[in-house]
Amino acid sequence: METNKIIHADCIEYMRTLPNNCVDLIITDPPYGDNVAYGWNNKTIKNNENPLINCSALVEMYRVLKRNRSLYLFTNWKHYPFLTEFVLRYTNFKIRHLVVWKKHNFGLGWAFRHQYELILILEKGKPKYNLKDFSDVQTASHINHNKLNHPHEKPIDLLMKMVEHSSKKGDLVLDPFAGSGSTCKACEKLERKWIGVELDERWVKN
Ligand SMILES: C[S@@+](CC[C@H](N)C(=O)[O-])C[C@H]1O[C@@H](n2cnc3c(N)ncnc32)[C@H](O)[C@@H]1O
Repeated sequence: METNKIIHADCIEYMRTLPNNCVDLIITDPPYGDNVAYGWNNKTIKNNENPLINCSALVEMYRVLKRNRSLYLFTNWKHYPFLTEFVLRYTNFKIRHLVVWKKHNFGLGWAFRHQYELILILEKGKPKYNLKDFSDVQTASHINHNKLNHPHEKPIDLLMKMVEHSSKKGDLVLDPFAGSGSTCKACEKLERKWIGVELDERWVKN
């Protein structure tokens, strides 16, 4: 299995090529399936019209994740009830916690402007956690770290905290919905091996 590379593929098809129990941690930020173009320029991402996309991927994510390991799954308040229902009914993941990522600034819109996203912590078996100060409310700024301007880029410092909390040096981390590759960059900085998968070739060039 080739590591430290963003693979241009459909992640479900790609994960089907992987053996069982082969990755130490999954951190991923799938399309929320709400068909909304967020951010400046109304940029859309692939599969954002498909609310089932991350559910289908969850089945493969469970299979490829090693036992006693965690999955950090970004979501939002609209998709959260549907997602947890799917997890409880159709996967063997246990729901460990829900983390709020509070942004420093609020986003575009009116009436109720977005200032947070959710991160669902799912467990296969009984994972261990490394940090003693990992709060369930995380604050991190949204830093533009590359020139591609992916509309859903996540902050590397937040991703690094998750990587540190749930893996050690040399472990293999998978991000099946890699986007601009923020998880991959966090892993690189912390000397983890990584695999990113991204369907849209605009972001694979990164
Ligand atoms: C919310 S974005 C991820 C952003 C990423 N966390 C970052 O910091 O840049 C979700 C990404 O999943 C990609 N995607 C959608 N369907 C996919 C699929 N079936 N396989 C792989 N990637 C997919 C989209 O093109 C999009 O770039």
